[in-house]
Amino acid sequence: MSEPTYKIQEEELIRSDIAEYLNRHETKDLLRILTCGSVDDGKSTLIGRLLYDSHMIYEDQLEKVAKDSKVYGTTDEDFDPALLTDGLKAEREQGITIDVAYRYFSTDKRKFIISDCPGHEQYTRNMATGASTCNLATILIDARYGVITQTKRHSFICSLLGIKHVVVAVNKMDLVDWSEEKYNEIVKDYNAFVSRLGFSDIHFIPMSALKGDNVVDHSENLAWYDGPTFLHHLENVNISTDRNLIDMRFPVQYVLRPNLDFRGFSGTMASGVVRVGDAVASLPSRQTSKIKEIYGPDGTMQEAFAGQAITVTLEHEIDVSRGNMLVPVNNVPHIGNEFEAMVVWMHEGAAEAGKSYLIKHTSAIVPGVLSDIRYKVDVNSMKRDKNVEETVTSLELNEIGRCHITLHRPIAFDPYDKNHGTGAFIMVDRLSNVTIGAGMIVDRIVSKPGHGKDPVSRNIVKSESLVSADDRAKLLGQKGATIWLTGLSGSGKSTVAQQLEKELMAQGHLCYILDGDNVRHGLNRDLGFSMEDRKENIRRIAEVAALMNNAGIIVITSFISPYISDRAAAREVIGDDAFVEVFIDTPLEICEQRDPKGLYKKARTGEIQQFTGISDPYEPPQDAELSMDTQNIEPDAAASLIIDDLKSRGVLTKG
Ligand code: ADX
Repeated sequence: MSEPTYKIQEEELIRSDIAEYLNRHETKDLLRILTCGSVDDGKSTLIGRLLYDSHMIYEDQLEKVAKDSKVYGTTDEDFDPALLTDGLKAEREQGITIDVAYRYFSTDKRKFIISDCPGHEQYTRNMATGASTCNLATILIDARYGVITQTKRHSFICSLLGIKHVVVAVNKMDLVDWSEEKYNEIVKDYNAFVSRLGFSDIHFIPMSALKGDNVVDHSENLAWYDGPTFLHHLENVNISTDRNLIDMRFPVQYVLRPNLDFRGFSGTMASGVVRVGDAVASLPSRQTSKIKEIYGPDGTMQEAFAGQAITVTLEHEIDVSRGNMLVPVNNVPHIGNEFEAMVVWMHEGAAEAGKSYLIKHTSAIVPGVLSDIRYKVDVNSMKRDKNVEETVTSLELNEIGRCHITLHRPIAFDPYDKNHGTGAFIMVDRLSNVTIGAGMIVDRIVSKPGHGKDPVSRNIVKSESLVSADDRAKLLGQKGATIWLTGLSGSGKSTVAQQLEKELMAQGHLCYILDGDNVRHGLNRDLGFSMEDRKENIRRIAEVAALMNNAGIIVITSFISPYISDRAAAREVIGDDAFVEVFIDTPLEICEQRDPKGLYKKARTGEIQQFTGISDPYEPPQDAELSMDTQNIEPDAAASLIIDDLKSRGVLTKG
């Protein structure tokens, strides 16, 4: 076996300039690798080969393996790399040094930590605990068998855990006569199912870990493959863009108060960058201040990044305690006590809907309830498991379920796919304190029980009226309909609504305005402006409008209703025939100039959060029945346009 050149250079450097060597070592970046494969795919062999060929093994360990290979080796070879890793395992059993689950080595380019998860049964537990911090997953495939169920399971869990880089090690190529055809077939099969999983980078390497082909050194047997070797790929894969450097999240682990003059907050930056002078809010209290100083291990710093352990001080005395989170005032995560998550269950005792658990999320530990298991995921198809009966009430060991979690108090969180640090949590048994589940918060609106189409209770039967919609239409000279005005705050919705109401009344029509600011004082006073709350706001309004329409009344709604999906849901509740969507398409600059309630100003300074158009999105309608820009049209003309539309639809039958 030839000595890799970097190894020689490294050794020379150790001899000639140890300080420089240590310095380089210190500043090298770290790649965390997860290895997944079934029992016989050759994981131990691959790791052993990697360590051996890159000369990361102590002489005495080598001697022992050489000896053991003759005795126990299953390979007819002088050297069985698998015994190397198994040998290390034996060492651990004797209580010596090495942690089996993690192996550490380094080359002159990078440092590596390999988390090895045993092939069978406990795989999800091992994967879930080891993988959430991993940058790259190695999926081993035995070239003789190709893509098997286990390959799919492992790949699915890796994607669930947000690993972006995958190396598919097509191993045991020696046993298929180094066949390029066989390899291409496996590449094709894997690509066919993996496309849905959202990995940003998949790399295939044909190899024989046992013989050492393409692990560290290029293989002559696989001369048709012109890509990098396994180690070369590990050394060069670009992970610098994986970190979330945009959304600053600093979970506070300790409050340091050595004397009355100093109050610092310590923790590890979960994501993003923080700088001295940044305006920050403390969550969940939402009190704001500015970063005064940042302390790192070597004294004060101007800025700190994701992964760094720091202490910060603030300009003002605000309410910050352990478990709170500091975030930028203009980029806050969700704050709430409910979310949906993919939960991987890791304990022999099943997870049960309705049971309480401790939820450990960033630096906070909060009691909560697994309020609902919406469905189980079939890891083979990576979809909702249709074979399981409709209502799922428990999750067994290794099962994955989409769950609804309700906490006893609110926390600040992001969806896992945007932010691993603030989107992951673990579930802990309240009595034994053992980790029993791991969860990834899903970037979807929470569907609370009972928010589907059917009532929560099954014992409800609709009562039918003896009066028909036609009877009412005849009486009133109109059909019930809803004119749904949508647009930014300040776009002119209310003005148009009022003018329309006045005109319709003048023509003898019964109508009624439902308006954001009014409804939010009564029916919806429990709702704020999170995505979930806006959805619920619109859902209730749509239900009220549908009832009023049923009574024959024309309803004019005036809500921002920023999300296409919420408006589509309203249309469905009210009925397509009775729903007239009117987009008040006044540009943001104009709305902001008008700023009738002074809210844009407050939103710009961060005093109001999640303000539509500034710090929250507005999704314009794609196919509204009518659109108008209130810069170009007077309110009475706008009202006439809408009335003409209502006439053409047969809503107004008199006058
Ligand atoms: S919606 O998004 O849920 O449809 P809705 O129309 O009910 O909003 O309420 C919007 C009104 O609430 C705005 O006109 C404004 O006066 C006020 N408001 C207060 N905070 C916000 C906010 N963060 N985003 C939008 N509007 C807000």
